[in-house]
Amino acid sequence: MTRITITRPDDWHLHLRDGEQMRDVLGHSARQFARAIIMPNLKSPVITTDMALAYRARIIAALPATMQSSFAPLMTLYLTDNTPSDEIIRAKESGMVHGVKLYPSGATTNSAAGVTDITKCYATLETMQQIDLPLLVHGEVTDPDVDVFDREKIFIDRVLSPLTQRFPNLRIVFEHVTTCDAVTFVQESSRNIAASITAHHLLLNRNALFEGGIRPHHFCLPVIKREKHRLALLEAATSNNPKFFLGTDSAPHSQPNKENACGCAGIFTAHAAIELYTETFDQAGALDKLEAFASFHGADFYQLPRNQEKITLTKESWTVPDQLAFSGEKLIPFRAGESLSWRMV
Ligand code: DOR
Ligand code: ZN
Repeated sequence: MTRITITRPDDWHLHLRDGEQMRDVLGHSARQFARAIIMPNLKSPVITTDMALAYRARIIAALPATMQSSFAPLMTLYLTDNTPSDEIIRAKESGMVHGVKLYPSGATTNSAAGVTDITKCYATLETMQQIDLPLLVHGEVTDPDVDVFDREKIFIDRVLSPLTQRFPNLRIVFEHVTTCDAVTFVQESSRNIAASITAHHLLLNRNALFEGGIRPHHFCLPVIKREKHRLALLEAATSNNPKFFLGTDSAPHSQPNKENACGCAGIFTAHAAIELYTETFDQAGALDKLEAFASFHGADFYQLPRNQEKITLTKESWTVPDQLAFSGEKLIPFRAGESLSWRMV
């Protein structure tokens, strides 16, 4: 196949940042996706509905004129130890907030204000279960005694599994799953538990971190894992199982913040997101499964209508730019200077 037309996809996990940085990255996502779940881990985290609505207004104002009505930001709240239940109710009633994000405190970028102990959130989670507002989970423990490659698996045992037992009706998205353990957990859980999968976790195994030297642009959290885990993700993504859907976790950081003695976690894929997923599905001989993964399963899980519009991709080689604009700094996109095999027309 050299040409494929699918329903316009959505990105169920996206970091847009704010201000000038957001202005520079937003168009990449809006060009491809109809909607995106916007992560709340700004420097000053989005902890209230008012903050989410103000952030949404800034995103819409920053959209290029031609995309004002074709891209919808779906907002989220950042869960803290002290998020009150009435804030959750306000969020749901706004109609604009579609999930509440759990960052274990210290797990990743701008997570310091995150949750230190999940039991402190039980009353809030009870409210979320009652009013049916999904919990979006960064699934890694932060215990320094746990090996960084095992943090997702241990999170399942220590936090997620008990959580699903205590709140059986809470809808949960296990975000950016990276291990066969996570895939199995989601497959074996109730229909309330789903997972997003990034393009970079489908394309890379952990050798990519050290290919001829240390590769900061392949560093993200959760960190990429062994080949057997990548294969499990690929199998899940191409299985037509409605529990698995597209979420890029595209996370821009400036070149100096990535190429640094202590480089930031995050891979920027928004410039070519659907093209990267298409390449992956093509390599797996599963192009016929792409549309459901990219355009149906996420919308169904979030109980939103599927998009009506279509997009077309052609099998045509093009070269990713070496760098992109990022508020006066440089942003190095995934596969910078390399060629991709599919292009959205
Ligand atoms: O690699 C990551 N980057 N993982 C995250 O969980 C956060 C993200 C970011 O915001 O930079
Ligand atoms: Zn993320």
